[in-house]
Amino acid sequence: MEKTLRQCLSDAQAGNYAIGHFNISNIEGLWAVVHAAQNTGKSVIVGVSEGERDFLGIKQVKALVSSVRDEFQVPIFLNADHTYSFDRVKEAIDAGFDSVIFDGAKLSFEENLKETKKCVEYARSVNPEILVEAELGYIGQSSKVLDEIPEGASLSEETLTKPEEAEKFVKETGIDMLAPAVGTLHGILRSGVNPEINIERIKAIKKAVKVPLVLHGGSGSTSSDFEKAVEAGISIVHISTEIRIAFRDALKKDLQENPEEVAPYKIMKGAVQAMQKIVEDRIRLFSGE
Ligand code: G3H
Ligand code: ZN
Repeated sequence: MEKTLRQCLSDAQAGNYAIGHFNISNIEGLWAVVHAAQNTGKSVIVGVSEGERDFLGIKQVKALVSSVRDEFQVPIFLNADHTYSFDRVKEAIDAGFDSVIFDGAKLSFEENLKETKKCVEYARSVNPEILVEAELGYIGQSSKVLDEIPEGASLSEETLTKPEEAEKFVKETGIDMLAPAVGTLHGILRSGVNPEINIERIKAIKKAVKVPLVLHGGSGSTSSDFEKAVEAGISIVHISTEIRIAFRDALKKDLQENPEEVAPYKIMKGAVQAMQKIVEDRIRLFSGE
């Protein structure tokens, strides 16, 4: 029988590797992730933010992912990434997503806890296999090229997620996965060099909580930081900006080189390959290959 996301995650925790989570905005992105999963034979998570799922269609992206899972037997899961209200969490759960992320990182600790708890209770009432993730610590909100560090981002020792807060939050909400602030940012700084990941903080949080830890804002981190982060206890890594840049650059190049081409399936071919390369390389790195 097909493995659930919960089982794949528990395998990742036991085997000390991480599953890649890749954001998509269109079917080209989905094909890039599916081909990468087929080539590597690893499980993957497709993520859609509120904006991405509005563009794709919430029921339609669910149908697309289910259809590739059935036809090609790839262990591919669908996550409702960064969701800012209970109503939108409910919408994703009702649509049959495998997991949802309630993002209350900008709320007070108490408010975040209260709203997250409500999401967990609703998910459990629908299907105990649906996983709920929550965010503790703000790391910016946009997967794009950044001119500066987003205001209010938790990057210093004092503002990174604290192990004791993480422990209390997990215990009281009953979440299945936790996304702490451990030095990464959503997006890539224009300089191309993002801050270093705080490996010691990952280790300390890992000690304090039993649930799998999720690293957001993966784009822009070095391979060696990723290896250390996974070794320290990260079970899922989110990548978006790198894929968006690969898509934009390949499309731009192909349009410039073939200005007379009008067939979208030809125009998009290079962009799918460029995204697939990023995804495949990241999957291999996170799985320790
Ligand atoms: O949820 C999405 C990720 O955290 C993406 O972050 O754009 O920095 O790769 P990134
Ligand atoms: Zn994220």
